[in-house]
Amino acid sequence: MEPTTEQTITGLDHRHLLGLSDFSARELNLILETARRFRDVLDRPIRRVPTLRGITVVNLFFESSTRTRISFELAEKRLSADTVNFSASGSSVSKGESLKDTAQNIEAMKIDMVVVRHQSPGAPHFLTQCVDAVIINAGDGAHEHPTQALLDMLTISDQFGKIEGLNVSIIGDILHSRVARSNIHGLLTMGANVTICGPKPLLPVHLDKITSNGQLRITNRLDEALEGCDVAMALRIQMERQGRNLFPSIREYHDQFGIQMHHLDSHKDLIVMHPGPVNRGVELASEVVDHERALILNQVTNGVAVRMSVLFLLSGQSVTE
Ligand code: CP
Repeated sequence: MEPTTEQTITGLDHRHLLGLSDFSARELNLILETARRFRDVLDRPIRRVPTLRGITVVNLFFESSTRTRISFELAEKRLSADTVNFSASGSSVSKGESLKDTAQNIEAMKIDMVVVRHQSPGAPHFLTQCVDAVIINAGDGAHEHPTQALLDMLTISDQFGKIEGLNVSIIGDILHSRVARSNIHGLLTMGANVTICGPKPLLPVHLDKITSNGQLRITNRLDEALEGCDVAMALRIQMERQGRNLFPSIREYHDQFGIQMHHLDSHKDLIVMHPGPVNRGVELASEVVDHERALILNQVTNGVAVRMSVLFLLSGQSVTE
């Protein structure tokens, strides 16, 4: 990235990005501001800068992904990093090789950064104890998905010019959602008021452990969650993480918690977001997904710039402005 003045400012206080629970507002603002600058690069005819030339990044995906995986790959290529992609299927994991051995063998080939998605909460933290490379969490089980929350916050601040004081409702399967957890941490740190809403069995029981300073509200009524709401963030029902049926039926769920056209009609300023993948007709009516007040594809676009920002800031390069 090209500096605009000679002044060097402080970078991140963290060596890895494992979650947003202990990131300060200063760090979050730095990531978002750096992402905005990289977004300018993505609008140029040649969407590439030499910023990470000589840095090798491994994308270690043990779980399926479309958006996160492609946007990390694009971000790495736009920054001129060398990239290697690893999928658990087709690797020696199927022969019984452990996560630790896999990571240490890959690191022996001289790599600098690892982007990891894993079905087990804590897998990225574990990797920091096995290898020297910088670790970026691309989603670990139902724990955290920090770059998703960062791109969500960038999308919100683009729309409203701020995050502080906004009312954001996160609706759906909160219990199994790493996206919800990272957004709750990030949005509260940035001064938003957060409401979480869903069927009782899909709401976490230990929310009192999250520091909320009174900014966090819980309801199982969608009408309450949408009252005075600026942003409704709908989440997918994560069937793959549920050991049993936690709500009566998909149709009943849509009737009670799905955002439908009449909600957009009665809340004229409401913005709808969703991290994807969307199940049309479940958490969002199909017309809502395609509505101009749904920012789902803006979120995806911002994913590349946010991941460029995170890769750059964690690469150890100095930040200048
Ligand atoms: N939002 C998100 O993480 O999507 P993918 O699972 O496709 O990466």
